[in-house]
Amino acid sequence: MISIAILGHGVVGSGVVEIINNNINKLNEKIGEEIKIAKILVRDVKKHLNKVNSNLLTDNIEDIFSENVDIVVEVMGGIDPAYDYIKKFLNLKKHIVTANKDLIAKHGDELLDMAKENGVRLHFEASVGGGIPILRPLSECLSGNNFNSINAILNGTTNFILSRMDKDNMDYEEALKYAQELGFAEANPESDVMGYDSARKLSILSTIAYNEKVNWEKIHIQGITDIDKNDIEFAKKIGCRIKLLGISKKENGNIYASVRPVMVNKDSSIGKIEDEFNGIVLDGDAVGNVMFYGKGAGKLPTASAVFGDIVDIIQNNRQKLACFNKKEALIQKNYQNKCK
Ligand code: NDP
Ligand code: HSE
Repeated sequence: MISIAILGHGVVGSGVVEIINNNINKLNEKIGEEIKIAKILVRDVKKHLNKVNSNLLTDNIEDIFSENVDIVVEVMGGIDPAYDYIKKFLNLKKHIVTANKDLIAKHGDELLDMAKENGVRLHFEASVGGGIPILRPLSECLSGNNFNSINAILNGTTNFILSRMDKDNMDYEEALKYAQELGFAEANPESDVMGYDSARKLSILSTIAYNEKVNWEKIHIQGITDIDKNDIEFAKKIGCRIKLLGISKKENGNIYASVRPVMVNKDSSIGKIEDEFNGIVLDGDAVGNVMFYGKGAGKLPTASAVFGDIVDIIQNNRQKLACFNKKEALIQKNYQNKCK
């Protein structure tokens, strides 16, 4: 019996509970293990009483530290207290699955080292691209490549806003509110619209792809807050759409990285990506261009990626997910004007 604790029962946490419950029998047949949810941590137990077995709920992290669990799923978000909790769980030799890109972009290298020292796993597939399997394919299936570039839509909320402004003529504010209602936006949506979320995801992807630490805070970032209906109309007139792109490139040993709104041909593979969908194009020296596409945000798509990590840990037959190199890459900020 594999016992799991879930930190957080919001958009993603409730999706994880749903997917575990829907797959309990299948899992037993497929991997020969039963899974049990032992505890769920929330801030306000009352809010969740009619949604999940009340015996599972707690607002006290000590209840989880003292519980004999095998895997801890962190879907609370933010750095504090998630960072301290995860470090403590790693020292208690618990495997960790997290969807928290803020935490991985900032402390991923340290946490991966701690996981290694403690002989446990730290998986974070859901932290980039929501439901799209990207990190494990990148670090395993595509490991025979040196990567030249990454071009990607990495944020569902902003792509949703830009799509709705384009096709439904929605106002920016109205589209943002809708994205929040659908559970795509971060607790503080500034992360989405200012481009920080995309930059964190680009740093995680680039760190794995180039095998050098790409610090998200050194990425040139421009969000979508200045885009108005006139910009959308102008792009339309010339057969384009505005997309918030995360772009990184490795050239002559230098890494260039930026996040910014770009006009792309509406019929291009990136131009056709709408709503909360994300798309990631990797250029590897062996494989050439590969594109990953799918829902980049939302309850069940994200929970799907979290669940995949849980099963991967249980199967325990894979290589360590990511290689975070301590050597920090120099980000060439002036590349922004050259990216097309
Ligand atoms: P929500 O805000 O919907 O849920 C957060 C949950 O965590 C809530 O249940 C909240 O409890 C609980 N929580 C937060 N802080 C604490 C705390 N200090 N102590 C105890 N419980 C706490 O967030 P999401 O589910 O949307 O996101 C969770 C994580 O997943 C974030 O890291 C996010 O970036 C990431 N993610 C989200 C995606 C999405 O589409 N939403 C997609 C990919 C990743 P309570 O309900 O009582 O307030
Ligand atoms: N707020 C994020 C987004 C959630 O909109 O892409 C998925 O990481």
